[in-house]
Amino acid sequence: MTLSLEIRDLHVNVAGKEILKGVNLQVKPGEIHALMGPNGSGKSTLSYALMGHPDYEITHGDILLDGESLLPLSTDERARRGLFLAMQYPVAVPGVTLYSFLHAATSAARGYEARSPQQQGRLNAHLIPMREFRQEVNEKLALLEMNPTFLRRYLNDGFSGGEKKRAEILQMALLQPRYAVLDETDSGLDIDALRIVSGGVNTLHRELSMGLLIITHYRRILDYIQPQVVHVFYEGRIVRSGDASLVDMLEEQGYAWVKDWES
Ligand SMILES: Nc1ncnc2c1ncn2[C@@H]1O[C@H](COP(=O)(O)OP(=O)(O)OP(=O)(O)O)[C@@H](O)[C@H]1O
Ligand SMILES: [Mg+2]
Repeated sequence: MTLSLEIRDLHVNVAGKEILKGVNLQVKPGEIHALMGPNGSGKSTLSYALMGHPDYEITHGDILLDGESLLPLSTDERARRGLFLAMQYPVAVPGVTLYSFLHAATSAARGYEARSPQQQGRLNAHLIPMREFRQEVNEKLALLEMNPTFLRRYLNDGFSGGEKKRAEILQMALLQPRYAVLDETDSGLDIDALRIVSGGVNTLHRELSMGLLIITHYRRILDYIQPQVVHVFYEGRIVRSGDASLVDMLEEQGYAWVKDWES
């Protein structure tokens, strides 16, 4: 069995229309891949399909995590297997604080349940004990240079663009996935925030030997989080893969060239 997140000839329909038309990609632990492509080419569709979003219908192909097909698994089960998505557009959940969300999500992803008979039946026994979790959160907040007052706010409700992105990475830091897809995590981050968030991602990548797929439109984040492989995504498939020099070429030329590659 190969340790990897492997996407095999993936075809996906959204609202009855084929958006992904045969995606092949393999990310191994410790590897960093970048995915770049024009608006509407299907990058976020790929990320949702990986997580098992119900609107994204897989009509052909497979997604394997360390050799096991993810297709029969729910989103929760995929997360428990070690897959994480930092969404392009994180959803606001008024009424649920960031802290309680992180506490529940982290406990669930770790399959947390009451450890001792005394704990069983106790309220919140399915959650990581408060003190233990609080300490862990504080460490991750420090890593991402986030203000603890964030935790008391409702999840993504009124968060600025950059604050939402940081909250996503805070979640990633707690869930400690083995494979993570970051969908335009750089968009909306100011120059300092991009440096801090990238530093946090690099630290986690090192500590966890995580496989990373970075979806982005711009070179800047890739200067901080350096990919070994860059893939160009166009009209629902990867049309070219290469080293980081592909990024320079795209910055200079845009995607006009891609049509020529295709033919
Ligand atoms: N839920 C949906 N309903 C209808 N169409 C959808 C849905 N999700 C995606 N699409 C369509 O699928 C295509 C690919 O969208 P997707 O969001 O994957 O592109 P993208 O490559 O992430 O673009 P961007 O760079 O702008 O984020 C678009 O034409 C989009 O309108
Ligand atoms: Mg997108």
